[in-house]
Amino acid sequence: MFQSFFLTHPMFSKCLVLLCIVVLVPACAYDSEEDLFPGGDQCDTSDVSYAQDVLPILVNNCYACHDDANRQGGIILEGYDQLKVQVDNGRLIGAIRRNPGFSPMPKGSPALSDCFVDQIAQWITDGALDN
Ligand code: HEC
Repeated sequence: MFQSFFLTHPMFSKCLVLLCIVVLVPACAYDSEEDLFPGGDQCDTSDVSYAQDVLPILVNNCYACHDDANRQGGIILEGYDQLKVQVDNGRLIGAIRRNPGFSPMPKGSPALSDCFVDQIAQWITDGALDN
């Protein structure tokens, strides 16, 4: 008796609509960057430069622990020459790609976006210039 009242009562359909809104709206809000820009069209890996592209990524995501004052794990990324040491020994790319055998960076935070990783990888492929 209760069930048939519940299913036929007009409040039931209103509740259902409300439930749909509550469930579906957050599902849209959390679309990933990749879904919003299919094919990674928004990621520019042409002419990647140290000063314009790589440095801001490191300043924003890494300097808190790896600038000249902090040096966590003995790693200094501040200054081109110090950074180049970690490029040449393969640790920089290993850590941000989270390859086995490397400590995943940035430590305690989600991985860098695919675009940032691709840009740094391209900069290294181009010779990791001080450009
Ligand atoms: C919250 C602090 C913190 C942040 C942020 C951070 N690191 Fe680290 N990093 C560490 C510590 C501590 C170590 C020493 C290894 C360990 O404890 O995992 C380390 C180690 C490393 C190593 C050596 C890894 C290895 O396996 O040899 C590299 C390279 C590195 N970090 C690069 C980066 C880069 C690039 C970023 C930014 C994208 C970054 N880190 C952000 C704390 C941090």
